[in-house]
Amino acid sequence: MFTLTKTFALLALLVQTQLASAAPAQARQTPRPSSPNGPSGSGSQFASAPGGGRGSGSTSTPTTTGSSPPQDLTTGTACDVSTASIDTSGTTLPAPSFAPSFIGLGVGTQNYTCGSAGTYTSTGAFAELFDVSCLVGQSDFTSLQTTAFAAWNSSTSTSVTSTSDIMSSSGVLSSPITLGQHYFITNPLTGSGLSPKWDFTSNALAGDADAFVVGTKVDDVAAPTGSADVDWLYLTNATGILANEIYRIDTQGGQPPASCTAGTADITVKYTAMYWLTGGSF
Ligand SMILES: *[C@@H]1O[C@H](CO)[C@@H](O)[C@H](O)[C@H]1NC(C)=O
Ligand SMILES: *[C@@H]1O[C@H](CO)[C@@H](O)[C@H](O)[C@H]1NC(C)=O
Ligand SMILES: *[C@@H]1O[C@H](CO)[C@@H](O)[C@H](O)[C@H]1NC(C)=O
Repeated sequence: MFTLTKTFALLALLVQTQLASAAPAQARQTPRPSSPNGPSGSGSQFASAPGGGRGSGSTSTPTTTGSSPPQDLTTGTACDVSTASIDTSGTTLPAPSFAPSFIGLGVGTQNYTCGSAGTYTSTGAFAELFDVSCLVGQSDFTSLQTTAFAAWNSSTSTSVTSTSDIMSSSGVLSSPITLGQHYFITNPLTGSGLSPKWDFTSNALAGDADAFVVGTKVDDVAAPTGSADVDWLYLTNATGILANEIYRIDTQGGQPPASCTAGTADITVKYTAMYWLTGGSF
């Protein structure tokens, strides 16, 4: 099935590439067919069949506005999350203004440097984002971040690039599908300071140079789960069309020690979070 899916994905990608080259960029905007019954419930991270990604479900034929096939067929793996409901209860984060597009389990590190005052300040983060769209509504969805954190934090590896293997060997995700990476770049609007970026150009939307978003932080609240967990965030797109809004919720870990000795080395602190991306053009 996997080989078949991949073969199909490749074909879809070829078709897509041909169509994309003949169509204006806006033609890629393709509304997701709604899937009121949610994912198929197979328990698999994979779509049940070629074409069984977001483009399938209860509707027999994907609805498209243009000639392009649904973007999601290029991965052949993801489920429609447009009707999924983000749970920010316990916080004052605003409700989304757009429908969810992607839900990624982020597994990585928060990075800190020790300042002269003896406290850590953030120098960014690096995480792999795994597609959990097909797990929405299943019993283990709401505990994903906890099981993922337990596996990542107890691993002897500190390499973020090994997190896919850690997720699968621990059984947290049977066959992890990488959406992309989350990291920091120089703020593209001001040219100074750091901005968070979510970049799917090397994985889920490989080959599409526009499949990224750089966020502007709008809201930042303490994690309702406690002070060991990094804040929950709400951001909007500063540049990029991968999403209009980005939520970091359900955080686990990632906070630095309360104090440090000035001059000591930078540290990385493992964390996991759920990233919900809404809107966007994919
Ligand atoms: C953060 O640490 C990771 C290692 O976990 C590293 O790969 C990444 O480049 C670091 N990012 C920043 C902005 O320091
Ligand atoms: C993560 O692992 C470290 C040991 O590497 C441990 O000290 C720490 O308590 C763990 N964090 C949590 C929240 O379990
Ligand atoms: C944000 O994303 C939307 C949807 O793709 C796009 O229309 C808009 O131009 C983006 N905004 C910025 C500032 O890039």
